[in-house]
Parts: sequence; structure tokens; C-alpha cells
Amino acid sequence: MSDFLNKEAPVADEQAQPILTHEKSISQKIARGSEAGDILDQQMVMLGIQLVTQLNVLIKTSRIYERTNAALDKPVDTMLTLIKTMAQDQPITLRLQNDFLFLGDSHLKVNAQQMAVATSIIDALNAWKIGGMTFSLTVESKDLREFAALFVRLDPETKALEDLQKEITARGIVGIELEEQRQLQLRTKHGTARNTGSGTTENKSPEGAGTADPNAQRKINAKNGYAKVAGTVGALTQSARDGGGAVSFKQAKRAIQNIIDLMVDDEAAVLGLTTLRCHDQYTHNHSVNVSLLSIALANRVGYPKVELADLGLAALFHDMGKSTIPMEVLNKPGEFTDEDWVAMRNHPTEGVLSLSKMRGITNLPGRMAAASFEHHMNQDFSGYPKLTVPWTLSLTGRILTIADCYDAMTSSRVYRREPMSPSKVLNMMFSKSGKAFDAVLLKLFVNCVGIIPIGSLVMLETSELAVVLKPATDKANAERPFVKVITDPQGNPVDHGREIDLTEKDETGDFRHNIIRLIDNTEYKFDTSRYFV
Ligand SMILES: [Fe+2]
Ligand SMILES: [Fe+2]
Repeated sequence: MSDFLNKEAPVADEQAQPILTHEKSISQKIARGSEAGDILDQQMVMLGIQLVTQLNVLIKTSRIYERTNAALDKPVDTMLTLIKTMAQDQPITLRLQNDFLFLGDSHLKVNAQQMAVATSIIDALNAWKIGGMTFSLTVESKDLREFAALFVRLDPETKALEDLQKEITARGIVGIELEEQRQLQLRTKHGTARNTGSGTTENKSPEGAGTADPNAQRKINAKNGYAKVAGTVGALTQSARDGGGAVSFKQAKRAIQNIIDLMVDDEAAVLGLTTLRCHDQYTHNHSVNVSLLSIALANRVGYPKVELADLGLAALFHDMGKSTIPMEVLNKPGEFTDEDWVAMRNHPTEGVLSLSKMRGITNLPGRMAAASFEHHMNQDFSGYPKLTVPWTLSLTGRILTIADCYDAMTSSRVYRREPMSPSKVLNMMFSKSGKAFDAVLLKLFVNCVGIIPIGSLVMLETSELAVVLKPATDKANAERPFVKVITDPQGNPVDHGREIDLTEKDETGDFRHNIIRLIDNTEYKFDTSRYFV
């Protein structure tokens, strides 16, 4: 049957026979996640691609021929066969979301040859702003023909989807229902769409008001711990900028130790704080974030607690060399000049010099030097500084490279003007696994932030939006993190939305909640960090 997957030409008669025949409701007897269930899902997806292919043929043919023309017979018959097969238990819905096609909640992944067909259908649906097309068993040949005729005769430029729907009803077409595309305009209660946060103004959340709830208390502790670290790094960086003097790292080290204790208690609550995005304080936040992410990663690697604090401290000052770069350059709204880049590329080396000049350090830990010197080198030495002597990267350096890149890319400063969503950054990093990044460390890093990383925005099948609070504890279900619902199905923000463990199952063994897709929180300028503070 895969033969006719890619063909646009109507298929041969014998292939219009039911492809997947099964006893009614069999899908309900097969446990989700079981092998049989997987096979059934896979078959449904394959049939879904065939349905898309035939729908494309039907639409194209209808542009040329009248609805009664025999040229329409084959796509219509094949579609009917597919629908009768697939919709036995319940109507099937072809969905278009962010230019991806889904059958129900399964992504219809197409190969290179099928791409043209998928694109053609996506364009056709987009033209009408159709987000979903549901077919049920009641559909008949005349319905498909009539529908296709309307679909191509009416002009989406001058008519709205509503007009098309009215015509469908007026002509008595049954078994085909259309839904409009969902608008993902996120409104806040106070008006405009929320951009990246200014942080401190959101702190009066009622969640923090009482301390009875241990979760709330942990959050407050984590936030205070974060603020303390940020405070000490700010003070130390400033003093380095002002020309040094006696600098005490004691306070910073104590703050880091406090963070490590909190992390042992609730890693996700602390890592959630790294989603804080604060433009003007980029460098401080970035340093603290890199420190927290490095500690979490090193913890997975098996660092003893004492060493975690050293690493955390080293990570905190990995960008110390930036104190030699003028603020005007660091905060430049426009693009960097070549000269600016030279200064930027020198910061790892400058960092080692700055650190060694600080009188507060009598014995510069090698780790601090390594963190500064190596964090942009990359495992394959594709980064900078370039060395003429052979070099072996320290574990600290390799950990720092991952934590630094992840935070820098998800933030909006330094390397790019616009931040990238955490999952896009992870994908990008995985494409360089074993090259720029240590492959094993990168895998461990994903265990810290999750496949769908902390701070990601997802849409549940209820159409509610939720933010990822922590990765799934159960590795077998890594794609089912712990989330907090933040909007109702219409996209209106809800206060104190429920927190859901997506691995939770109901009495029948089905997952209670499912993610239907990831939403690019940066694309929608939606700041998820406020759910962590
Ligand atoms: Fe750096
Ligand atoms: Fe950095």
C-alpha cells in the first residue's frame, strides 16, 4: 500500500479496498503504549498521509472537472475507503498547526517526496484559515464532490471560512466539518501581550504570600538564593570594573553553597529561575544561570558536593573578562563592529588576567581559570581563543561550554538579538553533539532541563496552554514533563492554574493529559519565567 503514498495520480481500483480492517472499537481494547497500540497508531498515521494525498488529488482534480466528472471517482472512492476505515471508532480530524499536519494529535511526518503534497494541502488550508477538517462515517461520495467543488470555486480572498461553512450547510453536505485556526494571541489581564519580563514587578504573587505550602516556601527560598548570588556577582564584577581592590569571594561562595542545598531539595525550582530574562542585567543573570546549570550538570556527572561549590563559583565568574569591555559595547543595541568582536573574543583570556589580578584570591583555583579560558573553545576547538599548542579541555570547561551556550542562546543578549525557545536551542545543540559539545555531557544536560525543557510553553489537547515546570521524573516518559496550566482553552490567562504531572494515567491506563504541540514562547513574546518566581 505504500506504493501509492507518493502518487498524485488517482490510484488503481484494487487499492481502494479497505487497507486496515479491524473489528469495531478494537482500538479501545488495545492498551495505549503497547506494541499493538503502537502499530495501530503507526497505521493510522500512514493512512492519514494517504488521506492527505487523496484530498490533494481531489482538490486539484476539482479545479479542472465538474463534481460529477468520472475523473473524480478515484480520489473520492479512495478517500471514502480511508475514512470508513479510520473513522470506525470516532470521527477523524486532520489538523493544521503552525504549518504542520496532524491526524488527531499525531504529527503526520512526511518524507521528501510527500513534502510537495503536504505543502499543497497546507497552503490550501491556510488560504481558508482552516485549522481542522473532521471527517465522519456519514460522509458520502456526493458530500466529498460537493465539498471539493465549493472549496475550489469560492475564493478565500473574498470569502471567509464562515461563508464556506454556510454553503456547506446550505447544500446539505454531511460528514465534513471545518474548524478555524486558533489564534495564539496571548492576552494578559492588564492589556498588552507580555514581553520578556522585567522580573521584580511580578514578585507579589499570592503564591509567595503564605509559607504554609512547602512548595511555595521552596520557591521563595530558591528565589532569595538566586537574588543573593546575583547580588554578590554584581558587586564583584563592579569592583573588578572599578579596578579591583580586595575582593572577597567568600560571600559568593556562601551564596553558591546555599543554592546547592536548595538544589538538592528541589532542582527544578532552582533551574526554573534560569528562565528569568532581564535585559539590562543580562550579564549578571547569565552568570548566575550558567552557574546553576553547571552545578546541576556536574551533580549528574557525580561531582562531590564540595567540588560543586568550586565549580559553581568558577562558572559564576566565567565571563569576568567582559569587565574589560566597555559597557557601551556590551549594551549596544545594534550589531557589533569587527573591533567589538575582537574585544568579545578576547574575554576568555582577559578573564584569566582579571581573576589573577584580584587580590582577594591568593590561590587562583585552576578551575576558575579553566572556566574562563575554555568556555568558548568548544570540544572540537572550533571556537576561541585559538591555540597553537596542544590543549586538553578540562571537565569544567566542557561543562561550562554546554551551560553557557544553552543560557546564551535562550537569552536575548550577546550572540543574537532575539532569544530562541529552549527546545530549539537543545535541538541546535544536539546537531553539534560530539563536535562542539561533549556528547555524554549533553545527554546528561538534557536530564537536567528535560527533552521539553523547563520554561517551555506547550498546548495541551484541551487547548489550554501550560508551562513546563520540571522534567518528567520517569525517564521512560521523558516527553511528559510536569506542567502548570496558564491559560484557558481560549488563550485567556488563568491565575493559579493547576499543576499537572503528564505521566499521570486514568483508571483505564490511558494518560490523563497530552501535549499536542510545543509553542515557541519567544515567537509569541511570552515570558514564562514569572511562573517560577
Ligand atoms: Fe563568555
Ligand atoms: Fe557566558
